[in-house]
Formats: sequence, structure tokens, C-alpha cells
Amino acid sequence: MIVRSVRLETFRNYLDETVELSPGINILTGLNAQGKTNLLEGIFLLSCGHGFRTRFDSELIAFGNDSALVSGSVFSAGREQEIQIGLTLGVRKRVFVNGVKRNAAELSELLRVVLFSPGDLNMIKDGAQARRRFMDMAISQLRPAYAKLLAEYARLYEHKRRILRDWREKPALLDALDDFSDGLCRCGAQIVRYRAAFVQKLTEAAIPIHAEFSGRDEVLSLAYQTAGSVKDPFALPQEICSALSEHQKAHRQAELASGNVLSGIHKDELEIGINGSSARLYASQGQTRTAALSLKMAERALSLKDTGDCPILLLDDVLSELDEKRQEFVLSRIGGGQTLITCCEDSRVRKRTAGRIIGITGGRTQALSGPEKA
Ligand SMILES: Nc1ncnc2c1ncn2[C@@H]1O[C@H](COP(=O)(O)OP(=O)(O)O)[C@@H](O)[C@H]1O
Ligand SMILES: [Mg+2]
Repeated sequence: MIVRSVRLETFRNYLDETVELSPGINILTGLNAQGKTNLLEGIFLLSCGHGFRTRFDSELIAFGNDSALVSGSVFSAGREQEIQIGLTLGVRKRVFVNGVKRNAAELSELLRVVLFSPGDLNMIKDGAQARRRFMDMAISQLRPAYAKLLAEYARLYEHKRRILRDWREKPALLDALDDFSDGLCRCGAQIVRYRAAFVQKLTEAAIPIHAEFSGRDEVLSLAYQTAGSVKDPFALPQEICSALSEHQKAHRQAELASGNVLSGIHKDELEIGINGSSARLYASQGQTRTAALSLKMAERALSLKDTGDCPILLLDDVLSELDEKRQEFVLSRIGGGQTLITCCEDSRVRKRTAGRIIGITGGRTQALSGPEKA
């Protein structure tokens, strides 16, 4: 898949800008706060329908405006296609593919991205939420049905959370509690299977990448952990569901007492080990950065293997955060698909990477080199 061009209309700090991209490496360069990350976010939006630094879509609309439009011309599934996303304050987001109204969850069939930003370098040391987010984003792109399950889980979770929060004032709410708990277990059981299968495939891809990256010094291991009562995360959904339910029931009193949803797949963890010990607890900063890079590169390799198509790699300011050896590793691996890298003007990346250079100043872009079009 290739993004040939993107048009951003009253999106973030862009008023109306069309950016032509190279099918290979694109280097976005410019001073701070000019719109480099915003451009990546526009492409990210085309792949899934939301931004990566936002809680609300409205944050993507340029200040002082009430709507934004992002359009992308992409080559995907063997043909040229048009994706368009319209955001309007107070109105449901509109997604069009080739002029036909579609669901945001369907976008991943046309455009998949692997985003890597400096925060991801801490993914190993951060709380489990960071690793769940990594799994969820990666699986959602490969399996649109998974994204729907996650949305359903979030909906049920929110209901249950409110019941647990408010039941003392409104005891009648408790009538619905067990139904929501059951729903969460049923939905959670399917999520467990997806996560287990993903981690298994990710592990196969990540181990050789990490070995190469660490000069064969380190062996990476990944282990998916869900509720302790689930003995086999690959079992039939009914079996997993009863195991989750058993766990939930054991925590029912504690949930009522604390007012929090204590049991469920929103507590899952992706345990990462280096040479047999927990990376979260024991790895050095360099080791955790290396492991985070390995996971992201493995995500890209897995997506290629699974779909036959290389996802677009979006590297936001990560290179400047890496030492030279790690920079080299990343740069040596970005071939084979389309890549967008942001970097500051004085960056060495620009000198060391052959690619189309796009200068960005105050939400305006300018091709600085690389006349070839996507
Ligand atoms: N909704 C918005 N409307 C207008 N400008 C915005 C909006 N959101 C962010 N910006 C502006 O975009 C700029 C940051 O752009 P960004 O792409 O993050 O910069 P960088 O080039 O450093 O990656 C800031 O000046 C910020 O004020
Ligand atoms: Mg930035």
C-alpha cells in the first residue's frame, strides 16, 4: 500500500495543503511546532479514523473552524483509491472510500500504518496499559472484527463502571450488574483468543529481529497474560468465558467495595523478557529501547506477512532519541515499504537517508528534493 498524496483542509495547523509523497522514504523536516507530526497524524487518521494524540476528534479541527477534511489518494488492493474523512463539530464523523460512505473500522483494509513515536520507546517500562494499547492497535488493523469487539467491551465496561460507582446511591442499579459482567466475559473471551494468537505470531517475528539488533547478546521473550483462571487462551470461547467468569465472581465483592472493575481483560499484560528476566523490572534504558524497536519492527513484519502488504511506517522524531547504532538499525530496516520520517532541520538523518525531502513551515509544505511522485 502506498499513500500517493494527502490533502489536509482546516486540519490542525493546515488550512488547505496537498502533499505529494514518494512511494519510498519521505523525510519531513522543519523547526519545532510547524506541522510535521500533524501531517503524520493526518495519515494516521486515514488509516483508522482517529488521531494519535487526541481524546476528541474536535482537537483535530483547525482552531477557529468547525470542520476539517482529510483526503488521501492511496494505492491499495491493486488499485487507486480515495479515502476521505470529514470531521464536523457536533456531528458524527464521516468516512468515505471512493465516494461511498463506510465505517472507520473498515479503513484498515485499505491503509495500515505502524506508528513509532518517542513515547513508544518507553513502552516496555510503562504500565501494562502501554503494552495493551500496542497489542490493541496492531490487532485492530489486522482484524477489523477485533476493533469492533474492543468497542463493545469499552461500552459494557463503561456501564459496569457506572453501576459500581453509583450503586450505593441507587441500589436498583445492581439488578443489571451481573448482566454486564457476563457480557464483559463473553466479549473478553474472544479478545483473549485474538491477543493470544497475535502474541504468538509477534514473538516469532520479534525474536530474530531483537537478536540481530542486540548483536546476538539478548534473547527476547514475550508472554501474554490474562486472568489467572484462564489456563489456555487458545481454548474455545465458551471455555475462556467460564474461566473469566470464575475470576470475575471471585472479585465481585471487591468490585462492589472498591467501586472499580477489577476483573477482566482490561487488566491483561504483555510480559516482555530479556534473557529470561522481566524487561519492565530489570532492563537498562538501552535494552528497553532496543526491545521497543524490535516490537515495532516485528509489528511491521507481521503485518506484511499476514496481509502480503507492507504497512506505512510513520517515524515521529524517534531517530533523534536513538544512539547511532540504533538509528542505523532502524534505517537499515525501513526499505521495502513507504516510510515517513520527521526530523529537525539540522538532523543527520536527512544527510544519511536517500528520500524525498519535504520542508514544513507553519502548516505549509514544500518539496525540497526528490522529484519522483508516488
Ligand atoms: N487544532 C489545531 N488547530 C490549529 N493549530 C493546531 C491545532 N492543533 C495543533 N496545532 C498547532 O500545530 C503546531 C504543532 O504541530 P506539530 O505537527 O506537532 O509540530 P512539529 O512540527 O513539531 O511536529 C503547534 O503550533 C500547535 O499549536
Ligand atoms: Mg512533532
